[in-house]
Amino acid sequence: MSEVLTRPVSEQVASSAHISASKYDEMYRQSVEQPQAFWTEQANSFLQWDKPFTQVVEEDLNRGHCAWFADGQLNVTVNCIDRHLPQRANQTAIIWEGDDPADSETITYQQLSDEVNRLANALRERGIKKGDRVCIYMPMIPQAAYAMLACARVGAVHSVVFGGFSPDALNNRILDSDCTLVITADEGVRGGRTIPLKQNVDKALATCPNVHSVLVVKRTGGDIGWHADRDIWYHELVDKQSTECAPESMGAEDPLFILYTSGSTGKPKGVLHTTGGYLLMAAMSFKYTFDYKEGDIFWCTADVGWVTGHSYIVYGPLANGAVTLMFEGVPTYPDASRCWQVIDKHQVNTFYTAPTAIRALMGMGDHHVTNSDRSSLKLLGSVGEPINPEAWEWYYSVVGDGRCPIVDTWWQTETGAHMITPLPGAHNLKPGCATKPFFGVQPVLLDEKGEEIEGAGEGALAMKASWPSMIRSVYGDHQRMVDTYFSTFKGYYFTGDGARRDADGDYWITGRIDDVLNVSGHRLGTAEIESAIVLHPATAEAAVVGYPHDIKGQGIYCYVMLKEGFEPSEELRKELIAMCNTEIGPIAKPDVIQWAPGLPKTRSGKIMRRILRKIACNELDNLGDTSTLADPSVVDTLIEHRANK
Ligand code: PRX
Repeated sequence: MSEVLTRPVSEQVASSAHISASKYDEMYRQSVEQPQAFWTEQANSFLQWDKPFTQVVEEDLNRGHCAWFADGQLNVTVNCIDRHLPQRANQTAIIWEGDDPADSETITYQQLSDEVNRLANALRERGIKKGDRVCIYMPMIPQAAYAMLACARVGAVHSVVFGGFSPDALNNRILDSDCTLVITADEGVRGGRTIPLKQNVDKALATCPNVHSVLVVKRTGGDIGWHADRDIWYHELVDKQSTECAPESMGAEDPLFILYTSGSTGKPKGVLHTTGGYLLMAAMSFKYTFDYKEGDIFWCTADVGWVTGHSYIVYGPLANGAVTLMFEGVPTYPDASRCWQVIDKHQVNTFYTAPTAIRALMGMGDHHVTNSDRSSLKLLGSVGEPINPEAWEWYYSVVGDGRCPIVDTWWQTETGAHMITPLPGAHNLKPGCATKPFFGVQPVLLDEKGEEIEGAGEGALAMKASWPSMIRSVYGDHQRMVDTYFSTFKGYYFTGDGARRDADGDYWITGRIDDVLNVSGHRLGTAEIESAIVLHPATAEAAVVGYPHDIKGQGIYCYVMLKEGFEPSEELRKELIAMCNTEIGPIAKPDVIQWAPGLPKTRSGKIMRRILRKIACNELDNLGDTSTLADPSVVDTLIEHRANK
């Protein structure tokens, strides 16, 4: 390891922060030694309950079970909207910045309340009730947040599907969770281009007989198809509704949302989160990780289609009565200075983005940044993938002018909220280091035998206790959740990541140790991409691995074996790439395709991905043992014809 340049916690930040180093130690200790007392206090101070809870936690990780605040009742929108109205009716809740820099809008808490209640009434009019599933396939416009909140108001379970997913991917997700209503827009707008969302919905719904209603927001007014028995203009249905809507009182363990994410095997899993524990952790981590202070303007650049958008555009900020900025566009449109212009325009205090965006912007030159003022910035955040020290340094010194702490937040769709992160007033910053566990989070590093590693060391990252926003189920397949997260190491939640703990007890995430790729901060299963490729009639077999990519973090490298009678060609390569685009979406398009006459397999027929990974990464002098292969010569051929030279 090269030497780490540590930035000690700034005295100025520490003196005004919610959590100082000693406060962190004291609260963390209490959170793990006296969880009942700790969580009772937090849950009562962060949330408003319709019916107080008397039970805090009950768990058995051997069967992947936990229940938090189970006999309490609350409604998420009462917590994110209604309770703020007495003091904040006229305060901004959402700043919307359109794709076109000339388009922006502010929505006050009163307006948010009116919009959400109207839409909630509209959902009820269309027959949606507690427990029903609603799919949200939207561009980054305020109606996406209204849609999530309106579902929560009536107790419906939302399933937001990222607007970049293809009709096929949308179809699978709608069917898997049996959604009966879809909320979408005519078209999305990103980087000056339109995205045919409604057209994608029409294709997806060709085989979804249970979807009875599609609410369509008019974003562009572009030409779209129309099914009169099913499609309704959002504004026509919503505008006539009352702005009063009685919230559904939900059990803390009632589902709030489903969010699909990729794993190492099979199709994407519908990660299920529940109401009380999820909202508590989203709210608490928003306040403490970002050291949120009254009046701060917070900008998370994620899409609401990902968990980051759920927890840190919508639920975390709004539960705190904060101002959250929602951006429709991309960081490079109209040019690479867009983020910094938006920061100046809206006087953003906290900026939270992914390393892939930082690396891309870093490559476009400092002048795009230094042309802007950015003096409003107080704190920077990173999420989604490991941040390399060079990108960290650039983010710190150029974007943050060396004054803003960076919080490198490690977490997952399944964890609902931050799990390992520095707190700006408490922890020294080390570039690329996720640092310390959040309150109540108990990470361990496990060796190959499943034994806990003590002190400094490296191993599989797991959790030895539940936390309030832990995944509760995989929708429709509870056993799959138990098998995926709670079976590798009995009695632990296994994250799929590897990590190192240094002598200070700080955690460094080393990346996935399963067959999951992280491409531009988007999580993709190798199996998903392989399934898309083998759908092509020319392919016999495919194996997908990741390799280091300067901007994307990881690139997608596919080894493809063709069936007899088919020859490699540029045209076929394009067809295979198109296949991934159709089945999953543009994020899944392979970067490299290597034609493989054979794949390295063990005698029992298992593909040895370790070797394929090494070839893709060009680590050829370190291939490891190939003697167990059925045909070791396959490896030489693959090396000779490496596509990634
Ligand atoms: O590998 C870790 C990586 O992203 C995975 C989770 O992906 P997803 O569920 O899509 O959620 C992304 C946003 C929370 C993790 O298993 N990851 C996330 N944050 C970090 C990270 N890797 C290193 N450092 C991070 N800060």
